Amino acid sequence: MTPPKPEPRAEKVSLFTHLRLFRRDILSAQPARLYRAWMAEFRTPFFESYLCNDPSLVRLVLDERPADFPKSDRVTEGLAPLLGRSVFVTNGAEWQHQRRIIDPAFEGGRLREAFPAIWAASEAAVARMGAGEQEVELAASHAAADVIFRTLFSIPIEDRVAQAVFHEFRAYQRSAPILNLAAFLPLPRWMPRLHRRTTRRSASVIRGLIAGLTADRARAIAAGTAPEDLATKIMTTPDPVTGQGFTTDEMVDQVAIFFLAGHETSASALSWALYLLATHPDAQERVAAEAAGLRPEFGTLGSLRYTRDVFREALRLYPPVPMMVRETVQAETFRGRAVRKGAQVVISPWHLHRHERIWDRPDEFDPDRWAGEGRETAREGYLPFSRGPRVCPGAGFAMLEGTLMLAHLVRAFRFDAVEGRVPVPTAHLTVRAKDGIWLRVARRDGA
Ligand code: HEM
Repeated sequence: MTPPKPEPRAEKVSLFTHLRLFRRDILSAQPARLYRAWMAEFRTPFFESYLCNDPSLVRLVLDERPADFPKSDRVTEGLAPLLGRSVFVTNGAEWQHQRRIIDPAFEGGRLREAFPAIWAASEAAVARMGAGEQEVELAASHAAADVIFRTLFSIPIEDRVAQAVFHEFRAYQRSAPILNLAAFLPLPRWMPRLHRRTTRRSASVIRGLIAGLTADRARAIAAGTAPEDLATKIMTTPDPVTGQGFTTDEMVDQVAIFFLAGHETSASALSWALYLLATHPDAQERVAAEAAGLRPEFGTLGSLRYTRDVFREALRLYPPVPMMVRETVQAETFRGRAVRKGAQVVISPWHLHRHERIWDRPDEFDPDRWAGEGRETAREGYLPFSRGPRVCPGAGFAMLEGTLMLAHLVRAFRFDAVEGRVPVPTAHLTVRAKDGIWLRVARRDGA
C-alpha cells in the first residue's frame, strides 16, 4: 500500500485561493509539479519566495554560504513569546556563541550517557500503552516528552512540573496554528502582529515552569549536588571562545527550544513509523525479530539496523519539519533568475524527500533502500535534520531515541491499521495527521 500523501492543489489558482489554502495547510496548498521541479518562484506585491529543490542550491544555502541566508525575524517572531532568544531563532555571532555551548552536550560520547534514560523512557512507554484501538500520536508525544525530561533534567514525565509543562505545550500547539501562515507568507512589515492571547498565556506558563526547573538546577550545581545530565552539562559549559556560559535566564530560552524541537518532532516521526509498520506487516515482523534481541546497553543498537532503516524511511516520507525558511541578505542569482535582497528561500524536505527526479519510487515505503542506493541518493535529497552548520544538534539523539522506542513498542505489541482511518498528513508545528493516527494495538504473545 502506498503511504498517504496530501492531495496537491490545482496547478493554477488565484492569489486569494492560494492564501486560503496556505492558511489551512502548507502541504496540500502546493501544486504537484513541485515534486518534479528544481525551483519554483512565487511572487506577490509584498514579497518573493523561491522554493529550491535543486541540490546545488540547497548546498549553497545550507552548507556553503549559510551566513548569507539567515533566518528572518518575520519568520521566527511567531515563536518569540515561547522561545525568546533561543538558538533556533538567532543568527550571526549570538547564534554561534549559543551553538558552541550546546553542541558538546550532544556529541557522540554524551549519547552513550543518555542511553539509560532513553531506555527507561521506552520501557515506560510500553508499560503505559494498553491494547485496543487508539490514537497513537498522543502516546508518542507522551513518550517523547518523557525522554526530554529524563535526559535534560533527570525527571520522569510523572513528575508534577513535567506533567504541567507537557500539558501546557499541547495547549500551546493547539492555539498556534497561525504559525504556518506567518512563516511562509510573511505579511508586510506594517501589519500588526497579533499573537493570540491563549498562545501568549500558554507560552508564559511554560516559561514560568521551565524557569523554576532551571533555577533549581543552578542552585544544585552551586551546591555540588546536580545530576550529570544534559541540563548540567549545558549550564556548566562555557563558550570556548568567549569564556561566557549561559545565564539562568538564557538557559530558559534554550530549554524551551529543546522541548519544542525535541519532543514534537520525535513524536511525529514515531507515530508515522508505527503507522507505516501497521500497513506493512512484513516489515513489522522484521522489526519484531530484531527487537527480540534487545539488551539494555548501548551496543544493542548495532543489532537494530533494520529498525533504524525503518525510522529513516519514516523520516523520509513524513519529515517532521516539512519546510525551512531563510532570507537573502543581498541580491542573488538562482538558476539564472535574479533574486532580490530580502526574498524568501524555502528549502523543503517534504518535496526533496519525494522528488521524482531524485528518488526511485519516491512515494513507496521501502526501508531496504537504505541498505542499497538510498545512502547515495540521500546526499542529494534527504535532510530531515537539515544540514550544514545549522544542522539539528539533536539528530544523533533523535535517531537513537526513535530506533529504541520503535524496537521496544514493536517487541511488546502488534500494530494494525484501522479500516476507514487513513491518516492525512498536514503541517502543524510538525507534520501531523489531520485526525490523528489510529491503530489497533494487540499485545504480542509472551510479551
Ligand atoms: C526526529 C526528531 C527531530 C527532527 C526531525 C529534527 C529536525 C530539525 C530540523 C530540520 C532543524 C532545522 C530547522 C531550521 O533550520 O529551520 C532542527 C533544529 C534544531 N533542533 Fe531538531 N529535530 C529533531 C529532534 C531534536 C532533538 C531531540 C533536539 C534536542 C533535544 C533538537 C534540537 C534542535 C535545536 C536546538 C535546533 C536549532 C538549531 C539551530 O538553529 O542552530 N531536535 N531540528
